[in-house]
Amino acid sequence: MATKVKKAKKEKQSKQPKQAKKPQPKGKGGESVRILISRARLQRRITELAREIRKDFPHEPLHLVGVLKGAVFFLTDLGKQIAGDVSFDFIAVASYGLGTHTSGQVRLTRDLDSSIEGKTVIVVEDILDTGMTLQYLLKVFEQRKPKRIRIAVLLDKPERRIAAVHADYVGFTIPNEFVVGFGLDYAERYRNMPDVGVLSLGGAATKAGKS
Ligand code: IMP
Ligand code: MG
Repeated sequence: MATKVKKAKKEKQSKQPKQAKKPQPKGKGGESVRILISRARLQRRITELAREIRKDFPHEPLHLVGVLKGAVFFLTDLGKQIAGDVSFDFIAVASYGLGTHTSGQVRLTRDLDSSIEGKTVIVVEDILDTGMTLQYLLKVFEQRKPKRIRIAVLLDKPERRIAAVHADYVGFTIPNEFVVGFGLDYAERYRNMPDVGVLSLGGAATKAGKS
């Protein structure tokens, strides 16, 4: 009995958001990262999303389309957790001009390998920010006559929305901060961080291409 109580307490404690109090040591050019969403929370939420998606479409083959490169880790973890018939494809767009601010222009840099006609497509994206990228992709995909399209994003920054895009599955809603890790980059760096963190540039230069 005592063990059960202890276990329940431990589980409750582990549900508390884990946030690093102190910024990590300063990196390149004075940059630092403060952890916002730990790897454990990411995994728990991704498992929930996968169950939700399968519950919504219990008997259908699902075609996951990942937006390179940011969505790669999210797609692979999500894909592993969705039971049944699942296929993948990838598309790449360039959405940012310079630095941490979007240019608002979206360009297709790599197309899908196969047709999506008649398929139930789940577009898998790292973050919904201004919405320009997903608005553009939805337009492209809708012309290709899928059976239906749903959107799954790991992160949502609603404060920055310009285009009226709604995500059907959202991992975490976050404040208006520039985040890196778990696929998200700054100048192609930090994608391999297993947690999601807020990047502070310090005195560093802000010129960086991103996708
Ligand atoms: P949107 O077109 O403004 O919605 O931006 C979507 C894309 O911008 C994402 O797929 C990311 O590649 C990039 N992006 C937006 N916000 C962030 C961020 O905080 N960190 C890293 N990349 C971001
Ligand atoms: Mg992206």
